[in-house]
Amino acid sequence: MNFETLKWEAEQGVCVIEIDRPKALNALNRQVLTDLKTALEAFHHDESLHIVVLTGGGAKAFVAGADIREMANMSEDEALAFSKDGQEVVRLLALGSKISIAAVDGFALGGGCEMAAACDLIVGSTSSRFGQPEIKLGVIPGFGGTQRLTRRVGESRARYLVLTGEIIKGEEAHTIGLIDRLVEPGESLPSALKLARKMASEYSMAACRSAKKAIADGMGLGLEQALELEAKAFAACFTTEDQSEGMAAFMEKRLPKFNQ
Ligand code: CAA
Repeated sequence: MNFETLKWEAEQGVCVIEIDRPKALNALNRQVLTDLKTALEAFHHDESLHIVVLTGGGAKAFVAGADIREMANMSEDEALAFSKDGQEVVRLLALGSKISIAAVDGFALGGGCEMAAACDLIVGSTSSRFGQPEIKLGVIPGFGGTQRLTRRVGESRARYLVLTGEIIKGEEAHTIGLIDRLVEPGESLPSALKLARKMASEYSMAACRSAKKAIADGMGLGLEQALELEAKAFAACFTTEDQSEGMAAFMEKRLPKFNQ
């Protein structure tokens, strides 16, 4: 697929989307949001694709935030529409049943931090830098930073990042549970791709989708209701060929062949 602001590649069940505005540190303007929405919808509709890896072009940034030049003269209504467009994109990463992985090198700030935090997994390097510096611009996060980041790293850490605007290093992002896998500089995309390809070729994607849905749906419920939901989703796995195959393969001491 061809986009003005993105590069798109799909192979072996894995789609790589690279935000390609390195001169502006991949800042998210309206065109990037439009392209991302189209690309992620196409990913969700293509049954041969299971995992999306989101990354930023150039060595310096994943995404240095929403585009400040474009936001500078927005009216309240325009800012509301912009925030909703950004939230729509992060929703496609966070809530669709397919798996999303952010590969982060360099800056992941503001909307970039929010976009990475919306992904199921973050592979980040020791040269990555995360932060929500919006308060320094006289605004607050608008693509989920006050809500989704809180759910990911906990209220006190999210409050610290959002209220101080402090930019933290990859190691600290790993310590607070924002980065899931910490790698050497330049290794985030190769490592994320390796993980995605292994998952898409060796794991049951039906089980991954079911696990992602159970976690997402359970988040808004009380514990007992959420456990009930888990029991039903677990039981539903026993109606699938992947469950028969996965358990048979274990007992026959061979690798499973799942229905991908
Ligand atoms: N929007 C627009 N352009 C940006 C940008 C952004 N968020 N971040 C960087 N750029 C541009 C710079 O303007 C510069 O362009 P020019 O060469 O044309 O001047 C180019 O990218 C390179 O940036 P710098 O020269 O500033 O690079 P640096 O290494 O000195 O600093 C940086 C890097 C610390 C990331 C710095 O660019 C910076 O602070 N960027 C802004 C970060 C930010 O505040 N992000 C939050 C945005 S608000 C938001 O995201 C709201 C939301 O939740 C929706």
